Amino acid sequence: MPEVEKWMQTLYSLSELDQVASRVIDAAKDERIWLIDGEMGAGKTTLIKAMAKQLGVVNTVSSPTFSIVNEYQDREGKTIYHFDFYRLKSEAEAYDIGVNEYLESGNLCWLEWSEKIPSLLPERYFKIQLEVNDPQTRTIHYVREEENRL
Ligand SMILES: Nc1ncnc2c1ncn2[C@@H]1O[C@H](COP(=O)(O)OP(=O)(O)OP(=O)(O)O)[C@@H](O)[C@H]1O
Ligand SMILES: [Mg+2]
Repeated sequence: MPEVEKWMQTLYSLSELDQVASRVIDAAKDERIWLIDGEMGAGKTTLIKAMAKQLGVVNTVSSPTFSIVNEYQDREGKTIYHFDFYRLKSEAEAYDIGVNEYLESGNLCWLEWSEKIPSLLPERYFKIQLEVNDPQTRTIHYVREEENRL
């Protein structure tokens, strides 16, 4: 049996972003719910834009400001939901928006600031953690799918 790496950890600059995005997509491809965590300015939206580009998304990818959720189509016409819960006032608000239905839709869901909706998160997800090292680099950690089954 091949040894499974529990946490993947890489330091990257913007010039390595596309390479990192493609590795994340590969590692997370069997999961529907991807949490993209990290402090403000950690590079969550930047990574999401790079992943969207690689999946052939032609819609403009930016953080949802008014709606909490943006909807994209990949090159096969599959729907991707991109959430940003930063401005969410309460979990009840997320519930009212129907976040549950989106998460249970079977479509790919990318979540920024998922810590705002702890009780709405499914049991299973792929977690990506970003950290700022200095202005030029970030560190990414992620849990490979086999290790994420709780
Ligand atoms: N790997 C990287 N190396 C250097 N700079 C990066 C990297 N990734 C992102 N950045 C830069 O960090 C800044 C913030 O990025 P971004 O908006 O993606 O952060 P965010 O985590 O989505 O922030 P927020 O919590 O405000 O939504 C941008 O200027 C972006 O270019
Ligand atoms: Mg963002």
